[in-house]
Amino acid sequence: MTAGPDNLQGDLRISTDPADFDLNWIATALSERSHWALGRGRDVVERSVANSLGFAALLDGRQVGFARVVTDQATFAWICDVFVDESARGRGVGKLLTAAIVADPRLQGLKRMMLATTDAHGLYAQFGFERLARPDQWMVRMALPKDR
Ligand SMILES: CC(C)(COP(=O)(O)OP(=O)(O)OC[C@H]1O[C@@H](n2cnc3c(N)ncnc32)[C@H](O)[C@@H]1OP(=O)(O)O)[C@@H](O)C(=O)NCCC(=O)NCCS
Repeated sequence: MTAGPDNLQGDLRISTDPADFDLNWIATALSERSHWALGRGRDVVERSVANSLGFAALLDGRQVGFARVVTDQATFAWICDVFVDESARGRGVGKLLTAAIVADPRLQGLKRMMLATTDAHGLYAQFGFERLARPDQWMVRMALPKDR
């Protein structure tokens, strides 16, 4: 997918080809600059990317955004680790990533796509995501302290 938001100079495209992913950028962004994965080890980042569908936003070939989707490609998908480089924020990269995910042929016909966000509900609402109608029906098992 290629696009050129008016105020972002250059060729912005989304790639799902792992050969295009800049693992150094992804690992640094997540482990040093995200608010949810601080300190995540390089080995964990690499394994998580290898076992997910990855989406890289590339501006003139340079990675400026990333998201990954954990999915069975049949019924369910979980969108996570959505991160846009500070230098490119507010210029449509997050929307392009989200649009690419919901349009991806591997993710059609699923019963549910889910994600968690601290404050970007307004981004995902533009793509049909809604707050949980019945949060009391959902449960989570967090890692034990020894597993974190
Ligand atoms: C959140 C993030 C992915 C958005 O990407 P972006 O490229 O800056 O966003 P875009 O320019 O594509 O536009 C985002 C749209 O969602 C809206 N929005 C709602 N909540 C937002 C938020 N918390 N942050 C950014 N945009 C938000 C914006 O107003 C904009 O809508 P508009 O164009 O209709 O005005 C990016 O700012 C980021 O990486 N932030 C830090 C990491 C983070 O919080 N990631 C978790 C997201 S679950």
